[in-house]
Amino acid sequence: MNAAVRHPEVVAAVAERLRTAGLPSPDADARWLVEHVDGVVGDPVGCGAALLDGLVARRLAREPLQLILGKAAFRTVEVAVAPGVFIPRPETEVVAGIAIDAARAAGGRPRVVEPCTGTGAIACSLLAEVPGVEVLATDVDPAAAALATRNLAVVPAAHGARGEVRHGALLDPVDPAWRGTVDVLVANPPYLPAADRGSWQPEVADHDPDRALVGGEDGHEVVDALLALAAAWLRPGGTVVLEIDERRGSDALAQAARLGLIDARVERDLTGADRAIVAVRPA
Ligand SMILES: C[S@@+](CC[C@H](N)C(=O)[O-])C[C@H]1O[C@@H](n2cnc3c(N)ncnc32)[C@H](O)[C@@H]1O
Repeated sequence: MNAAVRHPEVVAAVAERLRTAGLPSPDADARWLVEHVDGVVGDPVGCGAALLDGLVARRLAREPLQLILGKAAFRTVEVAVAPGVFIPRPETEVVAGIAIDAARAAGGRPRVVEPCTGTGAIACSLLAEVPGVEVLATDVDPAAAALATRNLAVVPAAHGARGEVRHGALLDPVDPAWRGTVDVLVANPPYLPAADRGSWQPEVADHDPDRALVGGEDGHEVVDALLALAAAWLRPGGTVVLEIDERRGSDALAQAARLGLIDARVERDLTGADRAIVAVRPA
């Protein structure tokens, strides 16, 4: 029996503290924290009580739950998270799913590049869910590249799937021989405008790195750069999938059209918000 079921009174007390402080998901957070302490010391009540109290205090100080637990669930995998590296979000699971479908549809040994990998969550999902895939992920932040490397090394990879992470900007670290041969380019790049700073919840403002969030003054610099790279690096018929700001769907479609990409569409996330631009390099 899990700890949250064994000790409902502890879960309820923690949830009440979080709820009183105005945290958004007190019941789920309380269950996670109690389970975590049980996993560490085998008892969230006796010898684990002080540890639980310390973790609740961190959450009350608006540290993200995933940082407290040291991990985040993402589709079928679990990735390690660390301070200073962007925490994967549920909406990105939809973006990864579109790329996974495109890679599977490509068949054979699909070649996928994933710039802006952060923890490597998208690359890990590709490895776990696409047999034979060859994934190359990059990040400009050395701490992110190192963490993603560790996450890729332990993910249960599908048959024949291979992945690697390189440190560097966008596709700079990718072998030039891959130009024009890539089946799928997928990314969740920084895409918020600089003017959004100041409107973020403390979990975001105090813990996600600025360069993971802001895509230049207008927010679209990295998305535009990646669409241009897709037009050059995809094979004819290859697919680009980029997470976008829900307010910028029509801008992304217009940019894809300017670059000569075809079959462009905007996909929504589970909340119904415009969340990804998908387009194809013409044959
Ligand atoms: C929004 S986070 C996404 C991380 C991860 N893909 C995810 O969805 O959880 C954006 C990431 O892009 C990286 N980044 C920002 N500018 C970059 C650039 N020019 N080239 C490569 N990576 C970049 C940041 O370091 C950060 O890890």
